[in-house]
Order: sequence, then C-alpha cells, then structure tokens
Amino acid sequence: MAAAQVKADRLAIDGGTPVRDKPFPKWPMWDERDERALLDVLRSGRWGSHSGGGKVHAFAEWFAAYQDAQHGVAVTNGTAALEVALRAVGVEPLDEVIIPPYTFVATATAVLALGAIPVFCDIREDTFLIDADDAARKLTPRTEAIIAVHIAGQPADMDGVLALAKQHNLKVVEDAAQAHGAAWRGRKVGALGDAGTFSFQSSKNLNSGEGGIVLTNNRQVAERAWSFSNVGRLPQGAWYQHELMGWNMRLTEFQGALLLAGLERLPEQYERRERNALYLDEHLGEVPGITPQARDERVTGHAHHLYLLRYDKSQMGGREREWFLKALHAEGIPISAGYTTSLYRMNAVINERRKWAELARAAGREVTCPGSPEEEALPVTERVCGGEGAWMGQTVLLAEQSDMADIVEAAAKVQRAAARG
Ligand SMILES: Cc1ncc(COP(=O)(O)O)c(C=O)c1O
Repeated sequence: MAAAQVKADRLAIDGGTPVRDKPFPKWPMWDERDERALLDVLRSGRWGSHSGGGKVHAFAEWFAAYQDAQHGVAVTNGTAALEVALRAVGVEPLDEVIIPPYTFVATATAVLALGAIPVFCDIREDTFLIDADDAARKLTPRTEAIIAVHIAGQPADMDGVLALAKQHNLKVVEDAAQAHGAAWRGRKVGALGDAGTFSFQSSKNLNSGEGGIVLTNNRQVAERAWSFSNVGRLPQGAWYQHELMGWNMRLTEFQGALLLAGLERLPEQYERRERNALYLDEHLGEVPGITPQARDERVTGHAHHLYLLRYDKSQMGGREREWFLKALHAEGIPISAGYTTSLYRMNAVINERRKWAELARAAGREVTCPGSPEEEALPVTERVCGGEGAWMGQTVLLAEQSDMADIVEAAAKVQRAAARG
C-alpha cells in the first residue's frame, strides 16, 4: 500500500483524522405542531385523560388504525403495556411465558410482575429474533403464552410463532416497543396475535417522553386492558365502581398532544430510515467482518429503531468488539454493543424468578427454573451478547445518504487497519 494511503488510513483512535466530525440528527424532533398542541392542552385546563374524548383517546384510535388494529388502550409506558396485555389475555401467576432473552429487561420483568415465569428460548442466527423452533422445545404443560419481540423494529417470525400457539393453544403477545409501523406479510404488527404493545419512551421512533399502548383485535381483551389501566373500572361503569384489581396507568393530555403531532411525522421518518437502512445493508454488508441483521422476506415493513449488525472478529485481525466500537466512535460514528447481558443472566430476573419458583414448589407446583444461567445458556444469544452484536440508534438513519456513506467508509477504514494488524 502506498505511504499516502497508509497515512489516510491512520485510525482516529491512533491519532489519525476522523472520517467525520459532523453530528448525526438530534432526537427528539419537534416543530410548531407540537408547540401549538402543547399550548392548546395547557390553555384548555384539561390536562388529564380520564374522561375520554381528548387527545390521548384520539391518539389511541389513530395509532390502532395506523397499526391495522381494532382497539388501542394507551398506558404510561411500554413496560406497563406488556403487564397489562399479559393480564388482559389471561396469563395467571405461575403460568410459563416463553420469551427470547435478547431484548430489554421489561419483556421478562413484565411477566415476573404478575407472578408468571419467563422461560427463555434462543434467537435466530440471521435475524436476532425469536427462534420459533427453539420456542417449541421450551414448551411445558404450564406454558400459557409466547412473547414475540420485534427487536430493532423488524417483525419476528410471526408465522412460526402463531402456528406454534395454535397447535398448543397458547396466547401470543407481540412486544413491538421498537416496531412502530413495522409489518409482516402486509399487515402491521401489534394485533397479529392476541395483543401487542408499544413504547413511546424518549428514544423510540414515536415518543412523548414516556408512554405506551396495548393493541388488540379482541374487544374483550381491550376492555380488560382498559380496566387494568384505569384502576379496575369498567368502560361503562361508575367512577367509584372497581371490579378488577387495577392501576392508574393513564397518559396525560400533554403526552397525547405530542403523540398526535409525532404520528404526523412518522410515515416520512419511517421512509427515510428504510432508505438509509437499505443503503447500509448493501454497502456496509460488503465490509468484511460486518453482517447486517438479515431481513426475513416475509417482512414487509421494518421500523429500524436500531440498525443491528453482527461483528466477526476473525475478519478484524482478532480484535474484540469493544476495540471496534471505540475505533468507530473515534471516526465519528455512534455505535454501541447493545444488549451485552442476556436476560437469563440478569440478577433482577434470576432472583425474582427464583422467588416465584420457591413459592410454587412450596405449594407443590412444578415450574421451570434452571439452577444457574449456565444451565440455560442459549448458544446464539451467548455469542451475540458476548461479542458479536452491535447497533446504531434510529436517529443515525434520519441523516442524509452521504452520512451513510461516511459510516461505510469509517467501517471499511477500521476493518482495513484491523486486518493489517
Ligand atoms: C423491546 C422492549 N420492550 C419493552 C420496553 C419497555 O418500554 P418502556 O421503556 O416504555 O417501559 C422497551 C423500551 O425501552 C423495549 O425496547
């Protein structure tokens, strides 16, 4: 290699010139629509959403329709939405719920919060999403439900999950916290199973600081979800009539205002993320040692909350993932390792599950509760968390195509240097 090329290739982490110093877009984004809507709420004096007919109510209807669902119940966050959905579809204490361990902790803690037991199955090598065949291997007579998590915004294998559920009479809840606008075989996610949940927390593609929603096509499930999140009231009941154990999980009208305004921008942002992700799939995928999340051909809409990829150190001179991430950061590319601890290794999950298992055994009931994380370690998840997984956040994908080219250039530069040794 010519001396000039070697100099240009000197990594920023070693004192070379970074590929870029321009920042990527900031998040959240807002405009005068949000300002107007927030002021409207302020001046109206109607800040709560308890009486229906306001902005939260309108948003829940709009968002349900946007996601091809018949009913939407807005709640305080995506974690609460999962808890409410699980209760609404009928999951009971000590039931087992199969979930993938490559997800945010809430997928498991929502199960544990109602005294049910998460049972982990592996993810697919190519998509990082639930492996329905492995889920089948984790079934027991106590399995009541499966949570299909649409990590990064790509729908999980819903054909596989729904077929398994049908065969064994299980409930299906979609954790679509990262999947606003995503679609499977031409139908948006959220009501493909019995219920689905979304998050509107600050980082999410549609956000109101905090927030969440439960979607379903089943009226009874919707009414139960509404009751659980409205202190056990009934939709047609009296104010002080509480028929179910419930919580106040309502959003404020300020959040409803932000969500309605954000929903107007979502389709355009969705398209932009998709365009840029396709560009990265094509060009970043050519860099040795980087394999973008594979896209299942049945996926007809990917929300790209994350741009997920696999790192192969054998193509990078044996350098560990952490070095690669630091080197890319130095070149001006915001990238992180993502989930580095699988949920079956999280103390919050281990300890809470053990507590419920001990109670179950004391009551003479059997439950699935491995004695140690090693005992239940899942090979693909171990590799992805341990050293192969990495991602960039959705705001990167809101930049221009020339910014995507910088990402590709930086990754190729780092790879060349790593391979040179
Ligand atoms: C996959 C997944 N599930 C659940 C949640 C929980 O959502 P929230 O943070 O709104 O409680 C999140 C978001 O953080 C998530 O990414």
